Amino acid sequence: MSLDPAVGRSPLTMAAWNELTSDREQMSSTTLRQLFADDPQRPEEFSIEACGIFADYSKNLVTTSIMSHLVQLATESGLRTHIDQMFLGERINTSEDRSVLHVALRAPAGSTLMVDGVNVTDEVHEVLTHMGAFARTIRSGEWKGITGERIRNVVNIGIGGSDLGPVMAYEALRAYSDRDLTFRFVSNVDSADFVEATRDLEPAETLFIIASKTFTTLETMTNARSARHWLLSTLHTPASGQTESDVISRHCVAVSTNAAKVTEFGIDTQNMFGFWDWVGGRYSMDSAIGLSTMIAIGPKQFNDMLRGFHDMDEHFRTAPFAENLPVIMGLLAVWYRNFFHTQTIAVLPYSQYLKRFPAYLQQLTMESNGKHVRLDGSTVETDTGLIYWGEPGTNGQHSFYQLIHQGTTLIPVDFIGFGRTPTPLGNHHDILMSNIFAQAQALAFGKTAAEIAAEGTAADVVPHKVMPGNRPSTVLLAEMLTPYRLGTLVALYEHSVFTQGSIWGIDSFDQWGVELGKVLAQAIIPELESPEQPRLTHDPSTNALINRYRALKNAAE
Ligand code: F6P
Repeated sequence: MSLDPAVGRSPLTMAAWNELTSDREQMSSTTLRQLFADDPQRPEEFSIEACGIFADYSKNLVTTSIMSHLVQLATESGLRTHIDQMFLGERINTSEDRSVLHVALRAPAGSTLMVDGVNVTDEVHEVLTHMGAFARTIRSGEWKGITGERIRNVVNIGIGGSDLGPVMAYEALRAYSDRDLTFRFVSNVDSADFVEATRDLEPAETLFIIASKTFTTLETMTNARSARHWLLSTLHTPASGQTESDVISRHCVAVSTNAAKVTEFGIDTQNMFGFWDWVGGRYSMDSAIGLSTMIAIGPKQFNDMLRGFHDMDEHFRTAPFAENLPVIMGLLAVWYRNFFHTQTIAVLPYSQYLKRFPAYLQQLTMESNGKHVRLDGSTVETDTGLIYWGEPGTNGQHSFYQLIHQGTTLIPVDFIGFGRTPTPLGNHHDILMSNIFAQAQALAFGKTAAEIAAEGTAADVVPHKVMPGNRPSTVLLAEMLTPYRLGTLVALYEHSVFTQGSIWGIDSFDQWGVELGKVLAQAIIPELESPEQPRLTHDPSTNALINRYRALKNAAE
């Protein structure tokens, strides 16, 4: 299949763009209050259910005609072909000349997805079987450390996609995890991260998972070397006749695409869990990068999570755009970004278990769609990439919601809530959920000066209390956060990101913008470490900062 000429085209050239430009002008003369007064059926018209996630998007600044123009935009942009190309394993990550096949990670055993003459789903299931066997030996206590102790602590060392997915999934699925095992996640090269994560752990009972797609990432390799030292300084006793590699092989495993680097580090490739260059780091939590998740919840529940991902993949692949939840969420994001010049979307999960979900989404959305050129390298003519951010409710209500309600910046919101919690306690859950509904209501409908004055509020205070309303939100509701549900939720956002990137005509799967800083840091490290004053040849500000750091580093407190 050749690239649809629409894919990568500037959205400004599409007829739907002009329609939406005039729709936007018309929206200025109405409000959500008015739209609901005119059409009480909005919740039925503007809601959708997919794979058990119900989305009420009626409190968005849209009408029937706007939604149909947005769907037309998706069609004109070649989204359908682009989706098909992804699922067929075509090299749609053009700047890296790679397929984009995270959907293959959750394709059922026995399905076929050929890349360069290889059925990649067979390879995926081989790795899943290897992971499952290993996870079982850790969970059962069969896997022993070098001194014969069972493993009680699992420490994942990784960063970016090799950390954010695993830590988010562990927190999200804690209620389903083996409580006899302790899980820690070390990502930052700041020594505080490693030191604090390991200070109360026994090396003899600890397993490190070194998770790095490339196995070259500075932070991860630095932490991995510290882990090696931490293990060997306690566990390597030459008198026992055991070698350093005997110790490492019982206490370190690797997750990577780079077997050569894993071997060079001293980890036996038998203890390596592989994946492939067609899995982007930020799309890898359901690959071997999810090994810590599988150890925590067990292979069966990990498989439930994969089923959730796959069901949402199939919905995205097959549902007509007007009934396609990820497409609709992606289109709403484009609507606000390009026609309201909104810069951010807040994702507010009313679930403490999803406390790391916004952080996970930051990488997924911003590393994917923070791009300034289209697929053909030409400069974009529209804004791209929204800033996704958030905190769990109700905590955020007592912090930044003030700005969302009364500030001068329009921030569309995704609320996420559940009918039940795996850890019920008295009436907590009803109280929690009442707050989603109340916040969405307050954002949409606000409170007028007349309503406030009618309550007897002093005239000079009335303007301060006015709630402007007309602030959009989508409410996502599902039965309960389970492994399956997490899979559907993550895939929903992955495909919303795909939809946005496809309309903007950008490559959502590369990340060249993070490379320059890495190279510059490599040049600066020796200048900070050198005992002699180095000859600095940077810009004057960088030179001065390096000198100031060197002075601070050597100053006695
Ligand atoms: O620097 C960004 C990045 O390349 C991410 O895309 C990736 O998830 C992260 O670094 C970690 O990379 P690796 O898994 O290769 O260590």
